[in-house]
Amino acid sequence: MSTAAVLNLGNLALSRKEDFRAYAEAPRRTQPEGLTRVQLGALSAEARGEYDMLRRGWHANIGPIRTPQLAELHEDLWDIADSNLQDGDKAKGAVAVDAFPGLGKTTSVLAFAREFHHREVAEKGQYTDQGNERWPVCRVGLTGNTGMKDLNRSILEFFGHPGRNRGTTTQLGQWALDCVLSCEVKLLALDDLHFLSGTRRTASRSATT
Ligand SMILES: Nc1ncnc2c1ncn2[C@@H]1O[C@H](COP(=O)(O)OP(=O)(O)O)[C@@H](O)[C@H]1O
Ligand SMILES: [Mg+2]
Repeated sequence: MSTAAVLNLGNLALSRKEDFRAYAEAPRRTQPEGLTRVQLGALSAEARGEYDMLRRGWHANIGPIRTPQLAELHEDLWDIADSNLQDGDKAKGAVAVDAFPGLGKTTSVLAFAREFHHREVAEKGQYTDQGNERWPVCRVGLTGNTGMKDLNRSILEFFGHPGRNRGTTTQLGQWALDCVLSCEVKLLALDDLHFLSGTRRTASRSATT
């Protein structure tokens, strides 16, 4: 029986940077070997328990499968990310991925974010020139009717910033900007952007790569 290490990724919140890294850098799961009835019967109770656990983990986490839609989306995302190297004084484009629920937007964007994280860290190193940790991706999940203050707070939550529970909208925004610049974030992924309340004048920030 395969003795693949059991990945302990069951308790992650991708809205925190350490957890995002754990997700991005975890090795791919290996499929447990298919056993015949006879082989299964020969396993001890303990080995059977371990085998069943590996199978449960494998089946619950299959994928992401490289469907044609996912491959096409990734190709577009790479094109856009790679042609987005304008200097900081110029506006950068943003990408909106729009589809019916359950079609795999979150899954494919996370898979892209994971590859992007790897490429940036491999090319530029784990630390910035200033000695800060490099976090190429900041991923924020929005929920019902998030305003700018909550969005900034969620960004600070991702970085574990100590000031995330206090401060005005502007202060939170400045700290969030500081985190993004210091850690050289290149991809801000806002999941379920439609929850961002657009009624306020200040809600015009766009996701940038
Ligand atoms: N390419 C894929 N390979 C494997 N599973 C997928 C893939 N795309 C979507 N899924 C599965 O479909 C379900 C819904 O996907 P999700 O990304 O949450 O959709 P959306 O964000 O568009 O609502 C999830 O359980 C996810 O694991
Ligand atoms: Mg989703």
